[in-house]
Amino acid sequence: MPIILKNVSYTYQINTPFMRKALRDINLHLGNHEILGILGGTGSGKTTLLQIITGLLTPDSGQIVIDEADIKHYRKKTVNIFDKIGIVFQVPEEQIFEKSVFAEVAFGLQKKKLSPAEISRRVESALLSVGLSEDYYQRFTYSLSSGEKRRLAIASVLVLETEYIFFDEPTAGLDYEGRTLLLDNIKKLNEEKRIGMIIVSHDPLELFNVCHKCVFLKDGQLIFSGDLQAWRDNYEFLTGQGMVFPKSQQLVCELKRRGWDLKGEMKNFEEVAARIINCYDDISN
Ligand SMILES: Nc1ncnc2c1ncn2[C@@H]1O[C@H](COP(=O)(O)OP(=O)(O)OP(=O)(O)O)[C@@H](O)[C@H]1O
Ligand SMILES: [Mg+2]
Repeated sequence: MPIILKNVSYTYQINTPFMRKALRDINLHLGNHEILGILGGTGSGKTTLLQIITGLLTPDSGQIVIDEADIKHYRKKTVNIFDKIGIVFQVPEEQIFEKSVFAEVAFGLQKKKLSPAEISRRVESALLSVGLSEDYYQRFTYSLSSGEKRRLAIASVLVLETEYIFFDEPTAGLDYEGRTLLLDNIKKLNEEKRIGMIIVSHDPLELFNVCHKCVFLKDGQLIFSGDLQAWRDNYEFLTGQGMVFPKSQQLVCELKRRGWDLKGEMKNFEEVAARIINCYDDISN
């Protein structure tokens, strides 16, 4: 079932000198089991948007529909939105409360009626997904590095096995290995468990690699939405709006300008290079 936003606007500190319109007339559609990327500069409204969809903030106007029910439905005590949507916050420290790593991940399962064996299985599997081995289970959470805390915060959400997971800059502060592992696992979770996801990032290369479509926020307005091919087709417009494409995509668009209209996904340099070699072989044969 999809998540749909219709003409959603949000203003911080309304009617005060600090008033700030953070979202303007947002229309968004997260399809079934889709991974949606949100790109946009600092202060463009990305975090606000995630908070609006999870009901942490209430819009000034517009409507949010989650699995065919208006978000107001989830404010009732009997229906908790967080049973449906897990959110990994931008600052992981803000969501860590327990002393040990294992207890932190198990915490969210307390209210579910699960056997100790099932709890252990789910906690171990979530920690494995983010690359935290058995050596970490009894470590004090306060003693972890910030990259390790980020992995822990992600595991604490993965363990809940919600229908949707939203990630606010999940790879910030992770090293190359940690980023690759996390993004591979996000893809795997989406494919195997059909979890719908929203990922916020400043890195378009990262998002184009894992997302089915990406939207571009600028000054609280959603100015573009589409898959990678659509982004390339609108290269001039988007660069004019301040979007900086990954080098591999700049190359494809530059080749297109010169008459080489390469088709296909081509998410990274390896795939672009393979396509160019294919074309070259076709021409020379
Ligand atoms: N509590 C607040 N009061 C007033 N303005 C706020 C408040 N929180 C956020 N804002 C403003 O709303 C705008 C959107 O903020 P938001 O945190 O959603 O941006 P973002 O796109 O997530 O940025 P970043 O990439 O830095 O995380 C910013 O201009 C920010 O300064
Ligand atoms: Mg943010």
